[in-house]
Amino acid sequence: MPELAYVNGRIMPIEDAVVPVEDRGYQFGDAVYEVIASYGGKMFCLEEHFARLDRSMKELFFKDVQIDVIRKAAAELFAKANIDRAALYIQVSRGVSPRNHSFPGDIPLQVVMTVRKIDEKKLPSKDAGISAITVEDFRWGRCDIKTVQLLPNVLAKQKALDAGCYDAIFVAKDGIVREGSSSNLFILSGGMLITHPLTPDILSGITRSLVLDICREKEYQVEERFFDKSELYDAVEVFLTGTITEVLPVVRIDGRPVGNGKVGLKARALQESLSERLKS
Ligand code: PDD
Repeated sequence: MPELAYVNGRIMPIEDAVVPVEDRGYQFGDAVYEVIASYGGKMFCLEEHFARLDRSMKELFFKDVQIDVIRKAAAELFAKANIDRAALYIQVSRGVSPRNHSFPGDIPLQVVMTVRKIDEKKLPSKDAGISAITVEDFRWGRCDIKTVQLLPNVLAKQKALDAGCYDAIFVAKDGIVREGSSSNLFILSGGMLITHPLTPDILSGITRSLVLDICREKEYQVEERFFDKSELYDAVEVFLTGTITEVLPVVRIDGRPVGNGKVGLKARALQESLSERLKS
């Protein structure tokens, strides 16, 4: 079960994988990515991840996007690594070209992938929940595109860790609550599960959409609408959703307990329903 990398058609041990210094992803952040998790040797929501990757590339005007070729290469890499519980990382850059802001001519896209084991023991406890801080959302205006330009997310996450918390929640200048540093966010308020609507200010999370599906199935009342920091503070429950995150309850925000400070019933029920889907 080796952890492997793929660089433009070649598969190798991760430590041997390198990209050229003039990769536009490296110099300009001119690249998009996806993270796909596997359960029991099966990649979860593969089609949804590839549809989003395809969209991200098209939104950035990448030329000659051959999503089927990337999908086939990903399947081969994943099969070769043969890891039951893995994270497949896929990054596609606009290519390798002498540094120049303008788009290069006809050069091939650079495709890089890694498959690594997910160590469940290193993930935060879904039973205990996590603490979070809020931070100002100073990201660019197209957070719906999954680009590798993640410096604000990196700084936000580190600020949370330095404050003894697990994650940071982005809040816009006008007080609107957006999402986590690498996850979407839901609150339970007034009996409704509420999450930010799909706009260019958040990523259209695949887990978010699954959770919304499960809510409808369970006939939970859900609303995709804006809410502000005071509603976040007053929420009965708060949880994050994401590919590796799954459904992760937030029990403390900015030092205040969320609800009674314990993992809520809705988060618990959604965790269970989601894990049934992940394992089916
Ligand atoms: N992040 N919002 C942001 C900013 C994210 O980076 C992610 C995922 C999500 C959740 O999306 P999904 O449910 O499709 O995983 C929301 C990945 C996992 C990462 O950057 O590692």
